[in-house]
Amino acid sequence: MLKAYKKAKQIKEIRNCFPSLAYSELTYLDNAASTQTVDSSIKAVSDYHYNYRANVHRGDFKTSQIATDLYDEARVEVAKLLNCEPFEVAFTAGTTESLNMVAEHYANDDRKVIITHLEHHSSSLPWMRQDRNTNNEKLIVCKATDDGTVSIQDWVEVCESNPGSIVAFVTQSNLTGHTLEWQKMVAIAKENDCEVILDACQSIAHAPIDTQLNNIDWIAFSGHKMFASTGIGVLFHRGGFADIQSRLGGGTISHVDYESGYVLNNDVSQVEAGTQNIAGVHSIGAAAKWIQEIGYKEIQECEAEFFNMLKDKGLFKIKQLKLIGDAYPRSVFSFVVDPELNYNASDLAGFLDFENVCVRTGHMCAVPASYRYNPEGSGIFRVSVAPYNDEHDCVKLVEGLWQAIEKLEK
Ligand SMILES: Cc1ncc(COP(=O)(O)O)c(C=O)c1O
Repeated sequence: MLKAYKKAKQIKEIRNCFPSLAYSELTYLDNAASTQTVDSSIKAVSDYHYNYRANVHRGDFKTSQIATDLYDEARVEVAKLLNCEPFEVAFTAGTTESLNMVAEHYANDDRKVIITHLEHHSSSLPWMRQDRNTNNEKLIVCKATDDGTVSIQDWVEVCESNPGSIVAFVTQSNLTGHTLEWQKMVAIAKENDCEVILDACQSIAHAPIDTQLNNIDWIAFSGHKMFASTGIGVLFHRGGFADIQSRLGGGTISHVDYESGYVLNNDVSQVEAGTQNIAGVHSIGAAAKWIQEIGYKEIQECEAEFFNMLKDKGLFKIKQLKLIGDAYPRSVFSFVVDPELNYNASDLAGFLDFENVCVRTGHMCAVPASYRYNPEGSGIFRVSVAPYNDEHDCVKLVEGLWQAIEKLEK
């Protein structure tokens, strides 16, 4: 018998916006890898292909104009989400591309780069490729705490010892699940004359980022982690893209001749050269709109209710799984499976899959962080949540885990 939870109705309403879940028995708890796609976003993609299939910013005909208007509206929706100007928003293929572009921008910059021990590879490898590492001290890594975050004291120390650096860090770790005190970290970095790049990939679907309140220079995130389609993402740059020459090609110049050269548009087109993922842009616009309509507060309340369900059902009492950090409402719960056992995280996930329960195991593309918490390297067991996860999902997960453990320990 399912217990009545006070947000159950709202969770159901949200779940009904996701056709992949509303009509299926799937227990989807790998939202940190990719969320499901919201219906308005799916519709935006299919509308583009069915009704407005044309290139944008180029055509002289009505269909192209509609596709262009929707493209530009998507930029406005994303700008509203970040409380910034539309010209400060560029569309990319996703966080990975955004962060690589930013690192390329600083490729010949002699300043040190500060990151945290919790970075996803997308936020660390592009810097490491530039021969920045801790041995040559061109890369400074702020340590992570035992409970899966970064301490402000450590951050102050790192920033004060390396003023004027380029700082790149994650708002929420996809490995430990903890949200860093990123607002404070941004302010501290700025007090020390650093440029700040935020990897907001994990948090964008769950918590607001206000660019007016937080002096961030760059922000990167992906559509597929915020209920939109895949292969589309965002790069925010404070002040716009006039001075950024990331890509050249179609749509980027106002004049070109072979004698004198070319004149750039001096705008976001230099980042969005060529034909963009137009359907993807429409889809991220629809998802950004949906998030604003539902509201981050509601999203957080639904996810907090799911936490209550997990707690009531006993997820955090399973002694074979050790949660990284304290149990409190959040969107990602990562566990280390007792290394003394003769089975590991992926064995558990394999059993859960038989019951149509999707979780993630492994190093989560954050190998240094993974080894920080599971030195044996057998991998992390990650449950990640979205506002559509309901009590049925909770029961399937926890009971599925108990059954898996029973079978594996026989
Ligand atoms: C924190 C973080 N940063 C960056 C990425 C890379 O995102 P994408 O694969 O969408 O480019 C991920 C994906 O898991 C992530 O969790």
